[in-house]
Amino acid sequence: MNTLRILLRAGVRELESSGIESAEFEAMCMLEDCFSLTKAQYYLAQHDMADAHAAERFQKMIARRKQGEPLQYILGKWAFFGSEFFVGGGVLIPRPETETLVELAVADIRAHGRKVCFDLCAGSGCIGLSVAKLCPDVRVFLFEKFDAAFDYLRKNAEVFALSNVTLLQYDIFDGFDPQRMPPPDLILSNPPYICSGELASLQKEVQKEPKTALDGGDDGLIFYRTIDSLWAARVGSPLCVMLETGEGQPAAVAELFGEHGFFSRIEKDMFSVERFVISSK
Ligand SMILES: C[S@@+](CC[C@H](N)C(=O)[O-])C[C@H]1O[C@@H](n2cnc3c(N)ncnc32)[C@H](O)[C@@H]1O
Repeated sequence: MNTLRILLRAGVRELESSGIESAEFEAMCMLEDCFSLTKAQYYLAQHDMADAHAAERFQKMIARRKQGEPLQYILGKWAFFGSEFFVGGGVLIPRPETETLVELAVADIRAHGRKVCFDLCAGSGCIGLSVAKLCPDVRVFLFEKFDAAFDYLRKNAEVFALSNVTLLQYDIFDGFDPQRMPPPDLILSNPPYICSGELASLQKEVQKEPKTALDGGDDGLIFYRTIDSLWAARVGSPLCVMLETGEGQPAAVAELFGEHGFFSRIEKDMFSVERFVISSK
């Protein structure tokens, strides 16, 4: 039996030897999870003997991480905009920069009194569920095509337990269908936007995330074209479309929407990268 400190130090060394840059942070996250401790509690208890069962779980987590599995999948949950979301194989891990999209959406809803919001390509539901929680008067519809991602979406929506949320397992290439859904006045989306040819060169951890959440076609823009022509162009005014994009894509996305009479502006993310296209008509 080891103390918590010895266990943690050994875990950090193993991660470092596998080239994991944030070894200290990641090992601490796993330790907190296995021993149900906060970081502060760890410092008070670090010289205590570690429970054998929890220690074994911790070592298994370290081994999975060494194989390149993302920390968030190993923990099975990740924080986004002050809430925890279940994540795992088959669903994209919520990224911190996407929180700005939620902030922009909530500000827009409050300024314009939006009533119906769509989150296209919802994945874990981090965008739509966060917006629905903050804006109880808005009806939020979340669209996701793939079974594995939809299962996480359903699980997360159950935890949020909001009455203003509707989930639809739906292929967004089928477009806006007025028979099946009300017209939105706000569309949000963080769709797949990586060029197909770049997928193989992505970081090892990102390669563990589903290709269906990343692949934006030959030029990375296929989902933006679809949202523009099969959704935004089919819905009347007033409509605001807020899209997260990849680096270097905002100008091309704004141009697409310009062809359907939208006025666009571009917003930066928390790392000062031009990331969001806000288009209104
Ligand atoms: C980049 S991820 C974004 C997930 C989530 N909105 C977020 O920001 O973390 C894109 C999501 O689109 C889903 N998706 C891909 N193709 C789709 C389609 N044709 N129709 C609906 N959803 C799709 C993927 O399964 C994935 O969950």
